Amino acid sequence: MEGIEFQDVSFHYPNGFLANEGLNLKVRPGERVAIIGQNGAGKSTAAKMMNGLYKPTQGKVLVNGINTKEKTTAQIARMVGYVFQNPDEQIFNSTVIKEIEYMPRYFHLPEEEIKARTEEVLSLTGLEHCRDMNPFDISYSTRKFVTIAAVLATKPLYTIWDEPTAGQDCKHTVILRKILDYLQERGVGVVVITHDMDFVVNTFDRIVVMANKHIIADGTPKEIFSREEIIRESCISRPQVGNIAHEAGIEQTILFRQELVAYLSDWESKRKERQQS
Ligand SMILES: Nc1ncnc2c1ncn2[C@@H]1O[C@H](COP(=O)(O)OP(=O)(O)OP(=O)(O)O)[C@@H](O)[C@H]1O
Ligand SMILES: [Mg+2]
Repeated sequence: MEGIEFQDVSFHYPNGFLANEGLNLKVRPGERVAIIGQNGAGKSTAAKMMNGLYKPTQGKVLVNGINTKEKTTAQIARMVGYVFQNPDEQIFNSTVIKEIEYMPRYFHLPEEEIKARTEEVLSLTGLEHCRDMNPFDISYSTRKFVTIAAVLATKPLYTIWDEPTAGQDCKHTVILRKILDYLQERGVGVVVITHDMDFVVNTFDRIVVMANKHIIADGTPKEIFSREEIIRESCISRPQVGNIAHEAGIEQTILFRQELVAYLSDWESKRKERQQS
């Protein structure tokens, strides 16, 4: 029963708007999954049901077998840490360090444990230099790391990151990948919502695609990007290399630079052979 499981889940907002319909999904412990799809598809709504912030209006969400409807949000959030799409909706402390220590203090952890966790996540997220700064005095992209650090300090079993790549340069994208590897080594399940397709294909083996309230595909990068109807329906872009290969009319699905280089070298040697014969 371990994992986060959606069983035929729908969600209506209080104004009656249906944002998710009939979702079925299982994320296993230690797994890392990307959720992609058009704006307004219902990704953030689904993410908020994973940590109990929203409860399904139909169907069930189970976290390690526990029905989120039978627990408070605080109880579920202790198992599943959610990093908000907009960090400004999450941060409320006056310094980075206070923000990170807030939840461990709320859990009444021993002082040494709080300090050890804080130092670990500060180093992991590269935030040591701004530990005493007001989070609102640092850049938006760095502020996103403050929210990731604060969630990781709670040592969740699973963590959901909503758009961590938005506005990040390549140095920060490398740090994000390093944190994902660190979490995978420790068996923490991670779900990442993102619009950055290069990040997706280079970081995830499993992609869930959402469009218009539904999950419309679930598979490997090759499986997803070889299906034209999925790309069209969910309005996703191809990763950069995939785009070049597609525009050049190469029929096989190519997503990685090395693949494109191998394909072109092969094509060039065959052309030379033809020329010589
Ligand atoms: N509080 C709310 N009340 C009513 N409708 C809402 C509310 N929050 C979101 N919605 C609507 O629900 C739909 C799904 O929103 P959601 O934020 O889950 O989409 P998303 O896939 O995360 O989009 P994006 O890629 O833009 O972040 C949208 O049409 C949105 O306008
Ligand atoms: Mg969203």
